Amino acid sequence: MIPQEPSVPATAGGPVLAAVVVLAAGQGTRMRSSTPKVLHSLGGRSLLGHVLAAVEPLHAGATVVVVGAGREAVEQHLTRIAPEALPVVQHEQNGSGHAAAVALAAVPDLDGPVLLVNGDAPLLRAATVTALVDAHRAAGNVLTVLTAEVDDPTGLGRIVRDDSGAVRAIVEERDATDAQRAIREINAGVYVGDAAALRRSLARLGADNDQGEQYVTDVLGLLVVEGAPVGGVLAEDADDVLGCNDQRELAARRRTLNDRVLDDLMRAGVTVVDPLTTWVDVTASVAADAVLQPGTQLLGTTSIGAAATVGPDSTLIDTEVGAGASVVRAHCHEAVVGPQVSVGPFAYLRPGTRLGTGAKVGTFVETKNADIGDGAKVPHLTYVGDATIGRGTNIGAASVFVNYDGVTKHRTTIGEHARTGADNMFVAPVTVGDGAYTAAGSVITSDVPPGAMAVARAPQRNVAGWVRRRRSGTPAAAAAEAAENRAEAPRDGRSEASGADTEQ
Ligand code: UD1
Ligand code: CA
Repeated sequence: MIPQEPSVPATAGGPVLAAVVVLAAGQGTRMRSSTPKVLHSLGGRSLLGHVLAAVEPLHAGATVVVVGAGREAVEQHLTRIAPEALPVVQHEQNGSGHAAAVALAAVPDLDGPVLLVNGDAPLLRAATVTALVDAHRAAGNVLTVLTAEVDDPTGLGRIVRDDSGAVRAIVEERDATDAQRAIREINAGVYVGDAAALRRSLARLGADNDQGEQYVTDVLGLLVVEGAPVGGVLAEDADDVLGCNDQRELAARRRTLNDRVLDDLMRAGVTVVDPLTTWVDVTASVAADAVLQPGTQLLGTTSIGAAATVGPDSTLIDTEVGAGASVVRAHCHEAVVGPQVSVGPFAYLRPGTRLGTGAKVGTFVETKNADIGDGAKVPHLTYVGDATIGRGTNIGAASVFVNYDGVTKHRTTIGEHARTGADNMFVAPVTVGDGAYTAAGSVITSDVPPGAMAVARAPQRNVAGWVRRRRSGTPAAAAAEAAENRAEAPRDGRSEASGADTEQ
């Protein structure tokens, strides 16, 4: 016997849903944006992406997405996030009912239950859609609409029920009577219906309404007149069904989505110091005992290990942070931060950065394509581009890995347990061997053998008495004279040390 996946409501006859049809062709005029509405993003996905993610676990036989306004951009987006989906073009936006008809016309052989869903419902969850489909099947309906009780139904379609509680119609606010406007049960814009019944009634849709459009919502009324069994299922969480028609609603949905993500994280043992300024994408993950400080953004596929601390004021995009690491005031993009690593404050980790266990990238340090070994340190004011730094090595302050010759990027390799001086330029391609030292202020243009000390700077020359001769009458000259009078000033140069304040 083949064990069935419990999360998949499939029957022996194939998928429960013949198809999901996402209505995503609308202009989204109220967004007042050049970006097509369904491509606006929140919590790490587009509006459309959230809807597709919510219906994905139902494993419908086909996914049809009606595109129109900004269709090229939407189609491109679809190839990236849902290549299996079939885009169908609605050339003129004649309403949601017209969009549904165009979708079903593109799959003429399709039969059985079809889920129609607005493309602008980013808070929809799989459990809510599954409950709708289950109720639809249990009732033997030809059409079932998802509804919600809301405090403020402004702008939404109202669910009209008769005295027995049976759903009779959906009325758009602009076409509603005062009595209907007082109804607080609204149409979520999610429907499951039999394909044949939908085709039949969509073909009969008129446009006799305030907007002169074909409304998908009128299908319900037509089926009621036919005497077909229809129903409404109340969503458990009214937030699930909220659409997104303008920028203020987008911000509100983003906040709600974020609250949900943070609630889940906190329930799982993550400390979120300030939920109001902490933003975590639905695609990111955070392990228990991690601490998120105020102003933290965890975006994309970012993952945070157990007991790591991130923030304050840090943005991590597609970045992996190991257990026990600390990332303070940093911007990190496609970086891998190993366990127990310390990053920041004020660090910029760019793509291809890999920090080994216990490594450190300190203040005002930028890294890119940099493999920094276990326990290696780049503490201050340094650019590390296209480099490998061995374990236990320390890079002196204010150094630059000079990777670009104006045409091509080259790589620098620093061995293990090396000590490079402050203010070094490593002119790539160049290699510094294991255990080597370099002097402060050196411009390293040729390889340094293991264990050698490289000094690559002009020797110092002191011109005795210059200030007295050339700057007489200045405070400097007076100070010099006083010092000379007091005692013999030491005249030897500095020793050949690796430089100022480099952490060891
Ligand atoms: C719609 C419902 C309303 C419901 C609300 C829930 C209709 C007529 N009204 O209103 O009852 O309470 O959703 O949020 O459906 N679309 C197309 N082609 C078109 C027009 C629209 O694909 O020609 C798509 C849109 O991209 C959108 C969906 O259909 O995803 C609904 O259209 P929208 O204009 O957002 O309808 P609402 O006024 O929000
Ligand atoms: Ca809408």
